[in-house]
Amino acid sequence: MTTEVLDACISPKIAIARAAELLRAGEVVGFPTETVYGLGACVFNEGAVRKIYTAKGRPQDNPLIVHIAETHDVSRVARDIPDEFYRLAESFFPGALTIILRRHSDVPAIVSAGLDTIAVRMPAHDIALGIITATGEPLVAPSANRSGKPSPTSAQHVLDDLNGKIAAVVDGGKCSVGIESTIVNILGETPMIVRPGVITQEEIERVLGKNVAIYSGQETTQPIAPGMKYRHYAPQATVKLMASWSEILEEVHKNPNPKRMILSNEKAPPELQSQVYLLSPTTIYSDFRLADAENFREILILCSDTVQNNVALMNRISKAASGT
Ligand code: TXA
Ligand code: MG
Repeated sequence: MTTEVLDACISPKIAIARAAELLRAGEVVGFPTETVYGLGACVFNEGAVRKIYTAKGRPQDNPLIVHIAETHDVSRVARDIPDEFYRLAESFFPGALTIILRRHSDVPAIVSAGLDTIAVRMPAHDIALGIITATGEPLVAPSANRSGKPSPTSAQHVLDDLNGKIAAVVDGGKCSVGIESTIVNILGETPMIVRPGVITQEEIERVLGKNVAIYSGQETTQPIAPGMKYRHYAPQATVKLMASWSEILEEVHKNPNPKRMILSNEKAPPELQSQVYLLSPTTIYSDFRLADAENFREILILCSDTVQNNVALMNRISKAASGT
């Protein structure tokens, strides 16, 4: 299969129309969102959804997120929708928040990997919203990477992983957020964040007027966010979390010449400056991909106070480090 590249920066209308045409024909298409690129398929087309799992090499027990362009479309994919959903939607849609609801019986079970729940979000991205609207149906879209690779934040990343395996990718430039949406489950007594993102626990608590828990990642008999158990977000290099520049210097002196990347949001000592890349949520995944492409052996990440206080960024960094 040749993967069409549809340039939405030059001609958004043509790109959106072609993407919608392919999606309605049961194909899968990569498209930009504000968080990361998604790999879309029509939610009610079981065969198309199956193609997503195949293209990504995704385990069958890892459910997908449904993307809607209008809040009222939630009733096409979910049932018994609690009032909290509408309060969160009012404040955060469109935006980087995914909400777990009860699945509508019209939605094929494969979308939720057999769970009776469904994850729903409305992306804050004109191209994504345009494609959903033009297709006329909510779209399931996991991140458009091969399973186990960092999420893609550009159309080139999608091609690097999936060229020849998907019908098309819509190029809408780089993603502005760079890490995946916050996922919150509002079905229990206490709402629970099962994946941290740029929309924070405090912001959700303010809107709901009650405490929100953050899933600790401890194993339970019933996995709460099935995707959390996989080795996501991890580059091939060994990732080490460092507390200070002196710790980094010690590591560098011990082992002067491996192919190494240093990530930090603070100014580096002069002797390290050439190896240091700016650490931020927006660029973390493209830096991991660069490290893979350049065959870096080691990635040292300086966990400054600001970095440690960024729950979503620390979550992705810790996962990358624990996988190696
Ligand atoms: O920002 C994002 O959310 C991006 C863009 C493309 O929208 N999508 C994304 O999808 O990150 P994916 O498939 O890479 O991650 C979906 C996560 C997985 O960890 C999965 O386990 C969880 O959502 N998930 C999906 N449905 C769920 C459900 N019903 N209950 C609990 N977790 C669910
Ligand atoms: Mg993913």
